[in-house]
Amino acid sequence: MASFTTLPAMVIEALVPAARKRAGKEVAVIGAGAAGLAAGRELRREGHRVVVFERGNTVGGTWVYTPEVESPDLLGVDPNRTLVHSSVYESLRTNLPREVMGFLDYPFSVRPGCDGRRFPSHQEVAAYLADFAADFDLVRWIRLETEVVNVVQHPDGRWLVRSRRALLNRECTPPSAAVIEEVFDAVVVCNGHYTEPRLAVIPGIEKWRGKQMHSHNYRVPGPFADKVVVLIGGYASAKDISRDIAPVAKEVHVSSRTESGELPRMQPGYANMWLHSLIKSTHEDGGVVFSDGSSVIADIIIHCTGYKFRFPFLDSNGAVTVDDNRVGPLYKHVFPPSLAPSLSFIGIPWKVYPFPLFELQSKWVAGVLSGRISLPSEREMLEDVEAFYLQIEAAGYPKRYTHNISSYQSEYDDWLSMQCGCMKVEEWRKEMFAATYKNRIARPENYRDEWDDHDLVLQAQEHFLTIE
Ligand SMILES: Cc1cc2nc3c(=O)[nH]c(=O)nc-3n(C[C@H](O)[C@H](O)[C@H](O)COP(=O)(O)OP(=O)(O)OC[C@H]3O[C@@H](n4cnc5c(N)ncnc54)[C@H](O)[C@@H]3O)c2cc1C
Ligand SMILES: *[C@@H]1O[C@H](CO)[C@@H](O)[C@H](O)[C@H]1NC(C)=O
Ligand SMILES: *[C@@H]1O[C@H](CO)[C@@H](O)[C@H](O)[C@H]1NC(C)=O
Repeated sequence: MASFTTLPAMVIEALVPAARKRAGKEVAVIGAGAAGLAAGRELRREGHRVVVFERGNTVGGTWVYTPEVESPDLLGVDPNRTLVHSSVYESLRTNLPREVMGFLDYPFSVRPGCDGRRFPSHQEVAAYLADFAADFDLVRWIRLETEVVNVVQHPDGRWLVRSRRALLNRECTPPSAAVIEEVFDAVVVCNGHYTEPRLAVIPGIEKWRGKQMHSHNYRVPGPFADKVVVLIGGYASAKDISRDIAPVAKEVHVSSRTESGELPRMQPGYANMWLHSLIKSTHEDGGVVFSDGSSVIADIIIHCTGYKFRFPFLDSNGAVTVDDNRVGPLYKHVFPPSLAPSLSFIGIPWKVYPFPLFELQSKWVAGVLSGRISLPSEREMLEDVEAFYLQIEAAGYPKRYTHNISSYQSEYDDWLSMQCGCMKVEEWRKEMFAATYKNRIARPENYRDEWDDHDLVLQAQEHFLTIE
């Protein structure tokens, strides 16, 4: 093989930039939440050049609490409503212990003088992510208050990214804000998926006279004082919000498809909270009838029914679609086969401990983009996705659970580590995640302050000493 020195100077000139280009790509990252920050760091480490676009005025995404809610529509159906990104409420504490939550090589440690609890407040997570951005020198690559409005593939295979300076509150965005166009080799989508409400279907709701809202717009218990409140949902937000408002509300009724046993029944430890099955009908007089046979006259219904994936800026020409909350086709929840590797998605899986997963997905994307890690052919990736869909169908899961990887996050993370040749998620972390899940069921009221996995906490602390 000819070495560079035997080639004419002109040829060397032409080759050098090409070689450099092969290693380091120009990459646009959309969003500076935990996923976008992880992606930015891994892309930089791999030698890529990065611009991280962030619509908000600071990093941290969903962890940046704001007392603002959307207006005028708290339910989230009006396309013209002002948009608020974060779904975090004032009293929110994490539902994972900090040892599990943090990035693999950047422990979520207690900061002197701050909230040192094992399940800290949302402010602590926001501060941790801000520290991460500062410590890895990412801040200078992040463009705040800059919204990506359109992403479309250029005829040469690269990506045209259109962005504009934007304040989060749409009403304040000057209509004249100029749209800037730039071309990137690759785009990594990290826009989060806890902003666009998913609603429950409630029979008779058109005529029901009460107020409705989605948990996305829940902040503080005050407005629910002396009200009869119905919450729909069986997961974290319904559990947390019902407990948040019970001390001030007149009555709290939680309706969920996952509740079993005799219904309705009182929530132990509360004098004004009841658990119900699904809502059977609603009526003009404010009546809400549950399929367990009970009924109440309610003032307000809060939909704690989760969120939808949404990529309003992405113009993939049909290569990636969202169908009943399935984003696809995506190879291993990351690469659309026909556009890989220049388009990728970080953070799609849910029911997970997310930060380590973001980190591993980001390492994979960064390594594939530099050519260090190879992907199967487009056809093989598509076959893999199709086989995966068949498995979901065979198991009887609805499409919308496609990215619920709770039963195999551990295997998924290990698979990514193997692809990347990087450290695996520690055994103690996997065990602690499982222990937390059990503790949450055993102690629904105080799992954040009382636990049994002391030995795992010690293992975690010893482990962190080796990397600090
Ligand atoms: C109520 C609630 C409680 C949670 N509790 C926990 C917990 O205890 N532990 C845990 O680990 N996880 C928890 N999570 C999950 C949480 O979502 C993840 O921890 C993590 O914050 C997700 O990060 P992300 O970067 O994917 O998304 P986000 O944090 O949502 O960040 C996305 C970013 O993209 C930006 N963006 C979006 N569109 C554009 C655009 N067009 N142009 C420019 N920027 C854009 C947004 O402004 C935002 O900053 C919780 C989530 C919610 C909603
Ligand atoms: C949203 O605003 C546009 C432009 O002002 C208007 O044409 C449209 O009817 C509005 N839609 C709703 C649902 O209010
Ligand atoms: C997620 O998947 C797990 C395991 O397959 C299942 O037990 C759980 O009910 C699912 N949760 C949701 C909300 O889909």
